[in-house]
Amino acid sequence: MGFDRRYLVWALCFAAAGMSLGIYMAASHHHEQLVTHAHVLLVGFVLSLIYGIIHRLWLDAPRRALATTQFVLHQAAAIALSVGLFLLYGGIVPETTVEPVLGVGSIGVLTGMLLMIYMVLRPSTARSVQAGSEIA
Ligand code: HEM
Ligand code: HEM
Repeated sequence: MGFDRRYLVWALCFAAAGMSLGIYMAASHHHEQLVTHAHVLLVGFVLSLIYGIIHRLWLDAPRRALATTQFVLHQAAAIALSVGLFLLYGGIVPETTVEPVLGVGSIGVLTGMLLMIYMVLRPSTARSVQAGSEIA
């Protein structure tokens, strides 16, 4: 399975999880998990979908090890952030305990973005640059 499709599948799973939480919030009138809901959907669903679209439209044969690292890092970080926020805003785990998880998750999401920027700019994987060099 290509990275575009892998990202799409994970994005849709995050969408289902985030929407379930949203429906629970709306039905129960308990909006404490608002921040969790927003980040499951925005970091998990929207960002994964955007990464999938980038793979589909702008990346040609990125180095497999690099693309795998970026993919696994983003998904692991999105899960860590989602679970950490859920435990924090649900009052299940004290802030001091969950902070390291949120810290690692945040840095992971950011590092995933930096790796994606690198892949997009790297001449050997960026499709537009390849197409340009074929014409030249
Ligand atoms: C089944 C679908 C959904 C339901 C039932 C739902 C429900 C909710 C509820 C109850 C809130 C809290 C509102 C408040 O307390 O102010 C909320 C906030 C939010 N939702 Fe959803 N939502 C759904 C889908 C989505 C989707 C698809 C996204 C984004 C891709 C999204 C993004 C957000 C964001 C960013 C907030 C926070 C808004 C703010 O900062 O006030 N939601 N949603
Ligand atoms: C490294 C990843 C991220 C971290 C550490 C982070 C952190 C935070 C924090 C600390 C807040 C304030 C929460 C509060 O009100 O108590 C927040 C709110 C928010 N963030 Fe993020 N964020 C991240 C990524 C994103 C991304 C990628 C998006 C959108 C694509 C996003 C959209 C939002 C929105 C809409 C809110 C307002 C939610 C609300 O009404 O409370 N965040 N974020």
